[in-house]
Amino acid sequence: MRLAQRTTRIAGSPTMKVTATVDRLRRSGVEVIDFGAGEPDFPTPDAIKAAAHEALDRNFTRYTPAAGIADLKRAICDRYRTDYGVEYTESQVIVTAGGKQALYNTALSLFGPGDEVITHAPYWPTLTEQIKLADATPVLARTYPDDGFAVHARTILDAVTPRTRGIIVNSPGNPTGALIAESELRTIGELAAKQGIWVVVDLCYERLIYDDIPHNLPRVLADTCPELSVVCGSASKSYAMTGWRCGWQIGPVEVISASAAIQSHSTSNVTSITQKAAVAALLGSQAPVTAMLDEYRKRRDQLHAWLTVDPRLRCQKPAGAFYMFVDIGDVLSTDGLRTSLDFADALLDESRVAVTPGEAFDAPGTIRISYATSMEMLAEGSRRLLEFVGKHAPQTARA
Ligand SMILES: Cc1ncc(COP(=O)(O)O)c(C=O)c1O
Repeated sequence: MRLAQRTTRIAGSPTMKVTATVDRLRRSGVEVIDFGAGEPDFPTPDAIKAAAHEALDRNFTRYTPAAGIADLKRAICDRYRTDYGVEYTESQVIVTAGGKQALYNTALSLFGPGDEVITHAPYWPTLTEQIKLADATPVLARTYPDDGFAVHARTILDAVTPRTRGIIVNSPGNPTGALIAESELRTIGELAAKQGIWVVVDLCYERLIYDDIPHNLPRVLADTCPELSVVCGSASKSYAMTGWRCGWQIGPVEVISASAAIQSHSTSNVTSITQKAAVAALLGSQAPVTAMLDEYRKRRDQLHAWLTVDPRLRCQKPAGAFYMFVDIGDVLSTDGLRTSLDFADALLDESRVAVTPGEAFDAPGTIRISYATSMEMLAEGSRRLLEFVGKHAPQTARA
C-alpha cells in the first residue's frame, strides 16, 4: 500500500504498546501487574469532576474557540503567576489536547526541513517522533546514570550546529525523573538568545517534584529568552486527568497564533466540558496534588528499598515524576536474556509483570517501572521481579 512518505519516518508509541499488551492480556483473563502505565492510578479529584458535571448540566457542550475558553486561559496565567511569579497574557496561551498536542503544535510551528532540534537522551519517544513529523532532525545529547541523568548545558551546547533551530528540555524527565538545574537552563537560554535558537520546555511533570529543589524554569526562560521560548504543560499527571486531554502551550504571541491556526484546522477545541474541569483544577485547592505527591513519595522510597535488595538492579530515587529507571545491565547475559527488550518480554510472559524496556527511550539495558500503582501491586510486582532475576541470573553464577 502506498502511504505518505512521512509514515516511514515514525514509529508508534512504544510506551502505549505496553499498555495495549496489558489490556489485551487482561481482556483474555490473564492477571497482570502493570508497571508500564505512564498515568496516575488515582481518580480525578472530586471538585474537578463536579465542575465537569456542572458544565454538562448547563449544556456547555458546544464548540468553543479553537484556542480555548477565556476563563481557562486566564486560569493558566493565574496558576503560573502563583507558582512561578511569571506574567503571561491570554494571547500567549493556547489550550491543547494534552501536553502532547502542545508539543506537537510547537514542533509544527517552529521546525521544518533541514532544521536540527536537540533534546536529551534517554528521552520520551514522542519528543523525537514529533520533530521528525515536522520534517526536522532530532539530535541527541546523552545524559548518564552516574550523575542522576543530569542535563548539562555543556552537552546540549556541544551539539549545536549552524542548522540548530531548537532545544527541547523535559524536566522532570520521563523516563529518568531527573531535573535540569536552573543554572544549566539559564546557560542554555542565554546562548539560545544570542544565536536565535528556540528553547522549549516540557513541564508535564512540573507538580510532581519530591524535594524542595529550585525549579522555576518559566522564570529562567522569561529572564533569558522570552521571545524564543515555549512552555508546554499539562493537567494530565498533576490532577490525575490523563483521559480528559487537557494541556497548554505558552509562548510569544506569534507562535501561539500560528499554533492556534494549526489547531483550528486539525483538532479544533479541547472538549468543552474538560475545559471547565481544568479551570476548577487550576484555580481550586491544590491539596489533592500534594496528597498524591506524598503517596508517590512513599511508593518511590519503598519500591527503591525493595528493588535494591539485589544490588544488580541499579537505580536511584528519581527527583520527580513517578518512574523508577533501573539499569539491568548486570543481569543480562549473552547466553540468556540478552537485551532489556528480551527481559521485559520474558518478565511479562513468565511472571506477568509489565515494565517498559529501555529500548523505548533509547536506553537499552534499562527498564522503566511506573509506580503509579498501589503499594500492594508494587510489593507483589517487586517480589516477582526479584524472583525472575534470581531465576535467570543467579548471583552465585556470576560471582
Ligand atoms: C514527558 C512527557 N511529556 C508530555 C506528556 C504528555 O502527556 P499528556 O498529553 O497526557 O499531557 C507525557 C505523557 O506521558 C510525558 O511523559
